[in-house]
Amino acid sequence: MKIAVIAGNGIGPEVIAQSLQVLRALRPFGFEFSIEAALAGASAFEQCANPLPESTVNIAMQSDAVLFGAVDDARCDHLDRALRPEQAIPGLRKQLGLYASLRQVKIEPELASLSPLTPERVRGLDLLIVRELSGDVYMGTPRGRRVIADAPGGGEREGFDTMRYCESEVRRVAQIAFDAARARSKCLYRVDKANVLETSRLWRQVVTELGKDYPDIAVTHQYADNASVQTIVQPMAFDTIVTGNLFGDLLSDAASALTGSVGLAASAMFGSTRPSLYEAGHGSALNIAGQDRANPIACIRAATLMLRHAGGRHDLANRIEASVQQVSRQGLRTADIYRPGTRLVGTRQMGEPIACSIGQP
Ligand code: IPM
Ligand code: MG
Repeated sequence: MKIAVIAGNGIGPEVIAQSLQVLRALRPFGFEFSIEAALAGASAFEQCANPLPESTVNIAMQSDAVLFGAVDDARCDHLDRALRPEQAIPGLRKQLGLYASLRQVKIEPELASLSPLTPERVRGLDLLIVRELSGDVYMGTPRGRRVIADAPGGGEREGFDTMRYCESEVRRVAQIAFDAARARSKCLYRVDKANVLETSRLWRQVVTELGKDYPDIAVTHQYADNASVQTIVQPMAFDTIVTGNLFGDLLSDAASALTGSVGLAASAMFGSTRPSLYEAGHGSALNIAGQDRANPIACIRAATLMLRHAGGRHDLANRIEASVQQVSRQGLRTADIYRPGTRLVGTRQMGEPIACSIGQP
């Protein structure tokens, strides 16, 4: 497998290093890979005044999969939107044609006590959020800033974005969600604001039509405000969720928070061609960068998603998952998931035993 590695900045390089170490531990099991490093985000901006250099897009395009660290940097908040480090993220999605994100939020029994909810409410939780990635207010035009010319409001500054979807964009991501639901509990929850938004009404129509091809899948339509409440109050009632870009952004992170740390959940992103992209759900966490304190588990899980979806190597992904579980059972915890009675370790002390306990063939 040819892997483009975008480590980024902040804790990105630290967690990526652990993820690569775990992948190297798979070599005895017949997993061959090469890596090519590429710049994006704050470090790319510093070196080439561009958060997403063309060379990075080229390296990504020539790979089978992109393993992505973190690129945001709050110190760049003053920059124009197009130059901000995190613009590398929508930029890459657009250039690579990635239109679906799958965020899996799974709570291992031994980590259930980390959740902000009581363990009974989340024990065994396994949620999949399928988020549309290519449309919505993220990409819709017109967008911009202007000064309102005419009364009323004349002379006032105004900002505007456009929420838009066309039916093929909805259909292709819905198809991924239906297929995912079929492989899981056969229940699909579709989240929108069809009580106020035209885009949502289109989603409802298209998904209902497509649902005729999936008679075995039960589709439930839910309003986004209610879905956010239910994610917190009774997350176990959900299984596979499909929604647009903006609602999906919020729900993916809210659901990840149920694990008790943003350091645990990962995402996979797909288009209709190679490469797909794999990342931890967290950002660059500059406050702990360079201190060997970051939790590498989310980034290691990103590598397992890569093995499953880009490599078709479920056997190897299962090995890594078992190894993460074993190390959790041994009570090793980075600071974000530390509780009295467990053993506080650094990023490397967490990654190494995960790689080592993958064992020999
Ligand atoms: C994410 C992030 C991005 C998004 C930002 C950084 C552009 O929040 O990957 O979820 O909103 O999609
Ligand atoms: Mg987000």
